[in-house]
Amino acid sequence: MAYYYDQPSRTFSEFLLVPNLTTKECIPGNVDLRTPVTKFRRGETPALTMNLPVTSAVMQAVSDHNMAIALAKSGGISFIYGSQSVEQQVEMVRRVKKFKAGFVLSDSNLRPEDTLKDVLALKARSGHSTIAITDNGEPTGKLMGIVTSRDYRENRLPQECPITEFMTPLSALIYAQEGITLTEANDMIWDHKLNCLPIVNSSGHLVHLVFRKDYDSHQEYPLELHDSNKQLIVGAGINSRDYKERVPALVEAGADVLCIDSSDGYSEWQAETIHYIKETFGETVKVGAGNVVDKEGFLYLVEAGADFIKVGIGGGSICITREQKGIGRGQASSVIEVAAARQEYYEQTGIYVPICSDGGIVHDYHIVLALAMGADFVMLGRYFARFDESPGRKLLVGGNFVKEYWGEGSSRARNWQRYDFGNADKESKLEFEEGVDSFIPYAGRLKDNLDLSISKIKSTMCNCGALTIPQLQEHAKITLVSSTTIYEGGAHDVMLKEKDRTS
Ligand code: IMP
Repeated sequence: MAYYYDQPSRTFSEFLLVPNLTTKECIPGNVDLRTPVTKFRRGETPALTMNLPVTSAVMQAVSDHNMAIALAKSGGISFIYGSQSVEQQVEMVRRVKKFKAGFVLSDSNLRPEDTLKDVLALKARSGHSTIAITDNGEPTGKLMGIVTSRDYRENRLPQECPITEFMTPLSALIYAQEGITLTEANDMIWDHKLNCLPIVNSSGHLVHLVFRKDYDSHQEYPLELHDSNKQLIVGAGINSRDYKERVPALVEAGADVLCIDSSDGYSEWQAETIHYIKETFGETVKVGAGNVVDKEGFLYLVEAGADFIKVGIGGGSICITREQKGIGRGQASSVIEVAAARQEYYEQTGIYVPICSDGGIVHDYHIVLALAMGADFVMLGRYFARFDESPGRKLLVGGNFVKEYWGEGSSRARNWQRYDFGNADKESKLEFEEGVDSFIPYAGRLKDNLDLSISKIKSTMCNCGALTIPQLQEHAKITLVSSTTIYEGGAHDVMLKEKDRTS
């Protein structure tokens, strides 16, 4: 006979947090949001922790190298999408690992034989006024000089004037050798009153540029997440089909943590993928698995060797899995059950397996609820897709700026690995979609938005009397709410002024 749950499944919006005593030291400045990403034994330190409990979703519309750099600078991790060729994904991982705060690859480059017309066209295209002149016009070609807007007066020179006639040539440039630290580079910038310092290698090829403005902005990122080589931490999504090819390439490129990306992770294909990784690389390669929504799914993947477990089916903003297939469970109920299973497993084995609540976060306080219910971190798609750093296009629709956001199960993404049945039949294709292609309101820069969300999260934690995530999990008081309580929670029985109605 079929099994029936005795309670309906619940979503985050059906719960609220009830305050605890807020002691005097319970202020947002004292809240520490560090959290484990990978499993660890009681008393030991996890191999990987984050400074903020947020990851960006394994999605084409969310996590490319730009998102990964921006999020790691703020203290979280992006999982670069796997619904692309191995080569393309590896290249994105490499770009994150090569990123050095303050050291940028020159994105505007020309050759000495190019002209003022080329300079003006490039400047108009890129919006950048510092142009590196290299022998082949490549960002890492042999450095010949630099052109900035101080080198030419547009109306005084003919458009066909060769760059060599007005650039600052190498002989007159102040530059530094590769290996210099950011602090040393910054000292040179200040001592010589520069805006930009080129860094070259021993054969005179351009390696990076250091800009005065970037040094200042580097000071904004106290939670930056890096490995022991000071390279940013990056994750990568994998699937249970081409893992024998994809995983070694991602490991070689320096991915710090992998995650099997599937809408339903309770499968033998996921177990096989984990076995392959652990047998090939041992415990040095960390891999999360999922998604699951109950105790059985959790234990199955943990016993297969997963380093963290992702929870959630059908709650994503672009997700239509529940409508299409009738599969899923309310996100809050899923997290609550899996967290209880994790606790039981921890008590029995002394091994703590972090869990990630994936999808369905609408309000910032949902993140606090997910953490309070036992998640160690959350994964967000829609939230990050709204920012400048996401890969989707920014468009003007109906007078408002929007970003594109499409599901991995939409025909646009054609990530059949995620929505297909493992590797049983490589040719099989699902004929229906599990995700939609949508617009979401554009929200600006990641850092500005994340800083605001984090300050709200910290403030809520203080109301709950918690300075850390484990304290929140231990002491949170969570109540179910009636529909009239939800109504009471919004502005009600007042006439909103225009500003508040549209925001
Ligand atoms: P969001 O933060 O609510 O937008 O949810 C993002 C999550 O939705 C992702 O991390 C995935 O788990 C899930 N997801 C991504 N694409 C699809 C899809 O096409 N169908 C169903 N779920 C999806």
